[in-house]
Amino acid sequence: MERDNLYSDNIVKGAFGPFFLSIEDIRPHLLNPDLKESDMVHFIKEMSMKFTKKRDQIGDYVLDDDHVSSYAALYLTTNIPKLHFLLSKLSPDVLNDIISRPFVDIGCGPGTFSLGLSLLFEKTPPEVICVDSSRVMLNQAEKMLKGFFSGVNLKTLQRFSEKRADSVLFYGHSINEIGIQKVQDQIMMVDPEYVIFIEPGTSELFTELKKLREALLDSYDVLYPCPSSAACPNDWCHQVLRTSHDLSVERLSQLVSLDRKILPMSAHIYKRKAGIAPSGEATIIRFITETKFSFEYEVCFFEEGQNKNVIVEIQKKQLDKKGEKHFKNLNVGEKITFSVEKVIGEKYRVKLLSF
Ligand SMILES: C[S@@+](CC[C@H](N)C(=O)[O-])C[C@H]1O[C@@H](n2cnc3c(N)ncnc32)[C@H](O)[C@@H]1O
Repeated sequence: MERDNLYSDNIVKGAFGPFFLSIEDIRPHLLNPDLKESDMVHFIKEMSMKFTKKRDQIGDYVLDDDHVSSYAALYLTTNIPKLHFLLSKLSPDVLNDIISRPFVDIGCGPGTFSLGLSLLFEKTPPEVICVDSSRVMLNQAEKMLKGFFSGVNLKTLQRFSEKRADSVLFYGHSINEIGIQKVQDQIMMVDPEYVIFIEPGTSELFTELKKLREALLDSYDVLYPCPSSAACPNDWCHQVLRTSHDLSVERLSQLVSLDRKILPMSAHIYKRKAGIAPSGEATIIRFITETKFSFEYEVCFFEEGQNKNVIVEIQKKQLDKKGEKHFKNLNVGEKITFSVEKVIGEKYRVKLLSF
């Protein structure tokens, strides 16, 4: 397809799009492929009222095939360019790393961003895990992804709280619905290599996302949009994508009176920090404390030409059940090796390499 070739060229140049997915491209893969345009208009108008005005009813739009098909027709087609815009800001090395990892799409809806990622790279990630509390959305995501990529290695789940340290954990317009604290807990649990989110660009949500950013920076570096991982000086920071769509999609957005060509968003990409000190063997010399999230020990280890005693914090999220039991019963005098992730005052937060 010509569109695909254009995309390959653009990946090399690092500028993706414009992206044109028509209603007819996705229609065979909708849960209701026979839905008339006039019905789509009716359902989309109803849903957009809920998004903007009736926040208490926000969950209703995910309940039946017609609403979900209508959602996909307008929002899947017009949200995908946001991901392409975001990814165009990354280096080819990071892009290749991202597409080589399991992609966990939280609040996947009709499969918007799992499809968007796969279309951009013309292949699916090695594993796609679509997570949505709505079974109907998951059915739509499965039909959509398998429709475009029949060989996709896909799991659909209504909840996800597994450790997947090798994964890319992605949130697309779902943090708002899930809640920031649950999202933060989920990230700690999954402990992914990358965290990516694309959320509405409102100032209210930015206040929450800024808190999430601060929490993430203990273990992650921000790759986009910030120039560094230092403190954020802004009360409100967002991006605005100006784009165009296939004529069929533009027609639908005109019929529902929604501007989908100017798209404000809050989009961030984080990557797990590399260790900042060389790894070395240390001897446990004293148990300090155990908290809900960590163990702390005093250890003796060799650094900068001398043996030193320091307090190390070992976060439990890096341990499986057996590992946690091991540390509960750990003896003074035992050895561990680690790399230092962060120095917090006198304390070193460490990533265990062996124990
Ligand atoms: C606005 S839609 C976004 C869909 C898609 N990611 C997109 O951007 O086009 C939000 C999705 O999050 C899902 N959702 C809401 N709360 C959730 C939760 N606690 N866990 C998983 N999914 C949730 C909803 O069912 C809905 O499909």
